[in-house]
Amino acid sequence: MQKKMYITTPIYYVNDVPHIGHAYTTIIADSAARFFRLRGYDTFFLTGTDEHGQKIEQSAKAKGKTPKEYADEISAKFKELWDYFDISYDKFIRTTDKEHIIGVQKAFEIMYERGDIYKGTYEGHYCISCEAFFPESQLIEGEFCPDCGKVTTIVKEESYFFRLSKYQEDLLKWYEEADPILPKSKKNEVIRFVEAGLNDLSITRTSFDWGIKLPKSINDPKHVMYVWLDALLNYITALGYGTDEKLMHYWPADYHLVGKDILRFHAIYWPAFLMSLGLPLPKHIAAHGWWTRNGEKMSKSKGNVVDPKKVADAYGLENFRYFLLREVPFGQDGDFSQRALIDRINSDLSNDLGNLLNRIIGMSGKYFDYEIKSSDLEKYHKKEIEEIKNITQSLEKYIYDMKFNRYLEELWKTLSIANRSIDFYAPWSKMKEGKTDEAMATISLVANILAKCAILLYPIMPKTSSKIADALDFEINQESFEKYIENFEYLNNFTIKKIPPLFPKIEEPLMQETKKEPKKEAKKETKEEKGLISIDDFLKVEIKVGTILEAVEVPKSKKLLKIMVDLGEEKPRQIVAGIKEYYNPQDLIDMQVCVVANLKPAKLMGILSEGMILAAKDEDGLTLISPQKRKKPGTLVK
Ligand code: MSP
Repeated sequence: MQKKMYITTPIYYVNDVPHIGHAYTTIIADSAARFFRLRGYDTFFLTGTDEHGQKIEQSAKAKGKTPKEYADEISAKFKELWDYFDISYDKFIRTTDKEHIIGVQKAFEIMYERGDIYKGTYEGHYCISCEAFFPESQLIEGEFCPDCGKVTTIVKEESYFFRLSKYQEDLLKWYEEADPILPKSKKNEVIRFVEAGLNDLSITRTSFDWGIKLPKSINDPKHVMYVWLDALLNYITALGYGTDEKLMHYWPADYHLVGKDILRFHAIYWPAFLMSLGLPLPKHIAAHGWWTRNGEKMSKSKGNVVDPKKVADAYGLENFRYFLLREVPFGQDGDFSQRALIDRINSDLSNDLGNLLNRIIGMSGKYFDYEIKSSDLEKYHKKEIEEIKNITQSLEKYIYDMKFNRYLEELWKTLSIANRSIDFYAPWSKMKEGKTDEAMATISLVANILAKCAILLYPIMPKTSSKIADALDFEINQESFEKYIENFEYLNNFTIKKIPPLFPKIEEPLMQETKKEPKKEAKKETKEEKGLISIDDFLKVEIKVGTILEAVEVPKSKKLLKIMVDLGEEKPRQIVAGIKEYYNPQDLIDMQVCVVANLKPAKLMGILSEGMILAAKDEDGLTLISPQKRKKPGTLVK
């Protein structure tokens, strides 16, 4: 039986037009889907729009439209862009689709009947921008959202709750046993969050209307569903869950691609909902990093949002795809600049790949009238062939881990072998010496490397790779993958075609800047310097010696102590520190510690904390950092 593959993007909120972040997720998913199709998987690729919730209702109102009119308009913009970008999705779902609404109500009913949903009252803080609830202890300064920094609103309403707490242990077991979170480094983050304790989740609202109503059987018309419950269920309703179920054989998802900001919803809420529904859990949840602009978060107010259509129009869609996937390691943030994009195009695409193709077209025409034979390849190029084989046959694993940058980096090694071989074996000299067979073998080696490279590059640059294949007289499809990559056969007796250069060099930025980019001649950060801070940055942090005057336990907290520290100021500072597991409060009295003194105050479990006490922690436990000799309270640590 043919193996199946189900890949999803998040469904995008329709409160804003598509930007580079949306394009990034979608292009990763598209490249993966194209790769799996090329490998013969029966692949289903889903994308779409998330159209309910308070945020959309408010944005529509601000534009003088009904939420549905507004959603129709923006959803169409996403679909148009993905079509323009030739995104190979199999279905574009909208959460206002009738089938989705029926499926969501069905799921609610099942979870309710199972006893996983109960009615209560919600009282707490809600961030409309993130459409998420937060306990007071997590808020910044008792008021602001810890994710986006916007002000939260206090909500007190009757609400249905999902018994998320019931699934805590099963979730933890799942993270360990199935290891579904990519990149692996994000796994611990999720585990820590779950271990800290899960509260039941409020999943209905009564203070606005724009959402899916509860199933008729529950008969409570003033409630609409929480937008994340509605949205996450899209991954199964798109397959017909609750309606015709025709495509449910694709479930479970193999890859849910998401940005790091929405990993929590996908790695905690979603599997818990699925457990409640008795459905299998996704195989992977892959979280990518964020694109910034000159190191800053993109936002409409800053006017620094990158429009992906403009970039693709100026630099070429496939060049842009290559850049997005090559530039940053999966999971890490990346900075978009025209300079970085131009560098990639000129060096990787134009120099390494384009010039190589041009040289091979030129030499094959000049020496062999474009007719190439691969019969003497192994005789003259055994070593190079071995190297190429090792690289091309070990690339696939990077895609299964969504490490496209590593995949491309490795693939490019085949191009350096090809470029090196031309220079080293110099077919022009061989021709002069009458060693025609040897010259032919080298040209054939390089043409074969280019052919293999084109096949492997196809998922990321489908049109460009097809042009290379066309110049080399073959087609890229499942069969050619098997033949030239898996079985490592060579193109034989083929005719090279002359084609115009694929990647003209770019001298100057092609788009007008809305905001200034750093100057071209500005010194580039070297690899070693990345992640380092300047002395000025360090000096911004004010660390002072303090003497502990008082320490007491914070009621109901497993970890926190409330500590009063003398920093040589008018009155002692109150600091809340998570050290209860390691220190008895009485033992701390009179101890000297180092305190970050210019930290913005924050509230932890409702208690104001005016600084941070420094500590070191390893397998052996935690220890506070004290000066070696007693110092006056308030002495600066430098
Ligand atoms: N509607 C929810 C997802 C529901 S999925 C069941 C949502 N939508 S969103 O439109 O706000 O964001 C969609 C995706 O875009 C997220 O994965 C997010 O991480 C990504 N990005 C938004 N801005 C981004 C960057 N600047 N850079 C990279 N991706 C970012 O969340």
